[in-house]
Amino acid sequence: MAYIVDMRSDTVTKPTKAMKHAMVNSALGDDVYGEDPTVITLQKKVATLLGKQASLFVPSGTMSNLIAVMVHCNKRGSEVILGNLSHIYKYEQGGAAHVAGVQLTAVPNNPDGTFDLRDVEKRIRGSDIHEPITSLIAIENSHNVCGGKVIPLDWLDSVSELCKKHSLPLHLDGARLLNASTHLQLPPERLVRGCDSISLCFSKGLSAPVGSVLVGSYHFIEQARRVRKMLGGGMRQAGVLAAPALVALDEVAPALALDHKRAQVLAKVIEGMFLKNFTVDVAGVHTNLVMVRIPESSSLTTQLVEQRLGQVCLAETQGDCKTPNDEGVIVKVCCFSDKLLRLTLHHDICDEDLWLAIMKLTYVFRELEAAHPLH
Ligand SMILES: Cc1ncc(COP(=O)(O)O)c(C=O)c1O
Repeated sequence: MAYIVDMRSDTVTKPTKAMKHAMVNSALGDDVYGEDPTVITLQKKVATLLGKQASLFVPSGTMSNLIAVMVHCNKRGSEVILGNLSHIYKYEQGGAAHVAGVQLTAVPNNPDGTFDLRDVEKRIRGSDIHEPITSLIAIENSHNVCGGKVIPLDWLDSVSELCKKHSLPLHLDGARLLNASTHLQLPPERLVRGCDSISLCFSKGLSAPVGSVLVGSYHFIEQARRVRKMLGGGMRQAGVLAAPALVALDEVAPALALDHKRAQVLAKVIEGMFLKNFTVDVAGVHTNLVMVRIPESSSLTTQLVEQRLGQVCLAETQGDCKTPNDEGVIVKVCCFSDKLLRLTLHHDICDEDLWLAIMKLTYVFRELEAAHPLH
């Protein structure tokens, strides 16, 4: 069997030994009654980490964002303003509209994950009865589609000021917030200072099997608890899931910088190949995601690249791509679009995996460059 390096996403990470041990050995109770001690410990720990009053353990990032929208937008005819490349807008099935009856108004995201705040200010509705009620602004940090970019602090402060000026709450989809704080070498509390609610995921770069946490004021979390129950997210002995999340905070979060370093190495190797078909913005690699762009003028697509990386040809196993078992390497990647490929570094990719992936990627990229010449 070929050796597989799975770079599709940081969601593919498996729970560590310590996490499995904690799952089996933690104290449990019925969390719908608020009686699971491990969940309570996790919720207190995250609230403290983010400098907020309270938090709520939920099954997924998608549910966490939806609960936030439903609590903030509790009047019919409400609207959220957010970036057009945000996860809430692109990848959550329009749950805000579908489930909550909330309109999502998207403004164009800049390549750094921000958006134009003058544009947003113009879109905030007044008292015209023809219009929906602007009830929330939502942002994302680090920004997934923008390649794991970390949002500049001064922009975070500006968006929070804008929200205050218009008495609007600010929600942060911080699925990878700890990657952002690791990059900035700042406590996460600083990054969320101006936010009224934050969603943070344990099942991405933090390597835990399941779960997210929604963070905010006591009052917000009290309402969020009701909405979670209504959505079917009330879990009983949820400590089995909170336990690995606690391990993730203690043991995996401090190692995120290693993923970022490996992402830099990978990006620099690809840049250093000077290929016309595969370009990387090395300076834009802030965290664990490396976006590889194929020019629009190329006949190559990411689907072709993905397919080729999933195969092993005879020459590879005898030449440069030799693996410990001589059966070649498969690199799994994520096609963000026809021309944009995402490679993700995470806790389950060690230095040896990275070098095997680099061997395979360089071999395949050179082969495809020769087959798809660009002038
Ligand atoms: C930025 C962002 N927000 C939210 C989510 C949703 O998380 P989940 O898959 O746990 O629903 C993801 C998932 O990858 C994400 O990348």
